[in-house]
Amino acid sequence: MTKPANHTLTWLKCLPETAPCAAKTPMETARAELDAAACAPKVELALEPSLGEGFRLEPQGEGYLLAGGETGVLYGAYRLLMACAAGDALPLGSHAPYYALRMLNCWDNADGTIERGYSGRSLFFEGGRFDYDPDRMRQLARMLASVGMNVLCINNVNVHENEHQLIEEAWLPQLAELAALFRPYGVRLMVSIDYAHPLRGGVPTADPLDARVAQWWKERADLVYSYVPDLAGFLVKADSEHRPGPFTYGRTHADGANMLAKALAPHGGTLVWRCFVYNCMQDWRDTVTDRPMAAYQHYAYLDGQFDGNVILQVKNGPFDFQVREPVSPLFYAMPKTNLALEVQLAQEYTGHQTDIYAMPPMWKEIFDDLPPSRVMAMAAVSNLGRDENYTGHPFAAVNLFAYGMTAWDPATDPAQVIRLWCRLTYSLPAQQEDALHALLMGSRRVYEKYTAPLGLCWMVEPHTHYGPSPMGYEYALWGTYHKANRDAVGIDRTSRGTGYAAQYPAEMAARYENRETCPELLLLFFHRMRYDDVMADGRTLIQRIYDDHFEGCDEAEEMARVLASLDLPPQDAQTAHERMVRQLRNAREWRDVTNTFFYRLSGVPDAKGRKIYD
Ligand code: GCU
Repeated sequence: MTKPANHTLTWLKCLPETAPCAAKTPMETARAELDAAACAPKVELALEPSLGEGFRLEPQGEGYLLAGGETGVLYGAYRLLMACAAGDALPLGSHAPYYALRMLNCWDNADGTIERGYSGRSLFFEGGRFDYDPDRMRQLARMLASVGMNVLCINNVNVHENEHQLIEEAWLPQLAELAALFRPYGVRLMVSIDYAHPLRGGVPTADPLDARVAQWWKERADLVYSYVPDLAGFLVKADSEHRPGPFTYGRTHADGANMLAKALAPHGGTLVWRCFVYNCMQDWRDTVTDRPMAAYQHYAYLDGQFDGNVILQVKNGPFDFQVREPVSPLFYAMPKTNLALEVQLAQEYTGHQTDIYAMPPMWKEIFDDLPPSRVMAMAAVSNLGRDENYTGHPFAAVNLFAYGMTAWDPATDPAQVIRLWCRLTYSLPAQQEDALHALLMGSRRVYEKYTAPLGLCWMVEPHTHYGPSPMGYEYALWGTYHKANRDAVGIDRTSRGTGYAAQYPAEMAARYENRETCPELLLLFFHRMRYDDVMADGRTLIQRIYDDHFEGCDEAEEMARVLASLDLPPQDAQTAHERMVRQLRNAREWRDVTNTFFYRLSGVPDAKGRKIYD
């Protein structure tokens, strides 16, 4: 098994070299980290349980007093050490996380594979059983704690045969051992469960209103918590993409979630229930069903009916982690329900950790539209794996780092957090740091330009979701159509079309309804447009599509030049350059396939006479 090497440490490079192993509590970890750091000022720690996960740093004599709850002190210690390393002002004053749960969802399977994993095999499992390096686990725990994450769900939301054992007698002692490695860092484990698990345990039904089912889950939760008393809870994907759920029994998702939540409640556990529910068998001839409307239809009417320890986890957009989607309307429709915002660090649709794609600017757009008060937790699909550097592309670590910071404080400025990651990870001369920073800040827009035009979505290679395939999903079952013909493209989701826009509060709905006020980059998400329709800047739609694809590809070439000019550590440089070669190949493929696709349909040549294949 690969041991962590120094170049794998990404931003942890700024911390003392060896992770402290002997510490038993977050407070002891904080002390050990501060003592080991040569650069740290003198800091006295004070336990103030009322501060919980928050902390207060104030000058005291020659040094500082750092007060907080157990984990608060640890978070304070990391913030202080990172500020020292970056040459920033110390985080004086009081700080507390915005969201109570800051979760990382790993989609790891017991066989060692990772669903949508782009950085090697599972860190936790191999060959149908637990298999991990304890040192790497400690390093991972340290990474998570250093940016304030507090929950780690270790297995895929799609629960297969072997993972059932995570909550069965055979594997629970091992789950407890793993939990013990994360505990000194304030990280609690969570497991994904199979809603229909009682059927395997001798109960003839999984009907949430059947007393035998509720009893089975109660006993199961008691057993699990006897091994891992601080387990954060269960994560559930039900009635989604062929997973079992309450619909089988004619029950609602409130029935299902509350039944499970009641089993966890005596132990202080949380039931996280995903809202990624839609008909994944939609016939393409069905012109009435509009997939983005599904989650709202399934959940909005249930607002206020969920128990206090249930959190509904909603993907940021109504489709599925596309490059650009509007914020899910569900966030505005359930004011009486605990909601978690789910984002995806794994670059499933955003370049597979081969293409560079820094996410903070995208999250900022989400929070600009979504008052943070609407949600009380955040979850991110993990981008980690057994690759030496954890994230495949060394730059993909910026998304893990920034996610932690953003879940702690949704007002985190993307430019600042990316700058901090660059500085803590690499000691580059100022000009080079500026160049890397600009490259990362612009990377999302570049990827968007050479791939998805104006919020259209789903022109991607089916199944793998890397590379162009304009017609790949057009006659498939997934409800993801753009209906491009010789004159027009896009789905009309206004009141004249599917009516999706009306799922938003009136003011937002009106903004999306009207082509003049609809954000330009979402035009083809909400409107069906003719190729000769004129955009705000006077260009026709078809010209805009061509221009974006040529520009995006040119900008990717520029990114390659910038990358080549950076003095990165040799291992990172090699990995980044090797991936950039693939990114450029991908960008050219997207440009040419997409432009040719629209040219063949429309017959409209590029006004600038550039090469489009016929
Ligand atoms: C996407 C992804 C699946 C995943 C699903 C989910 O559809 O392609 O692999 O299981 O999301 O979020 O549950």
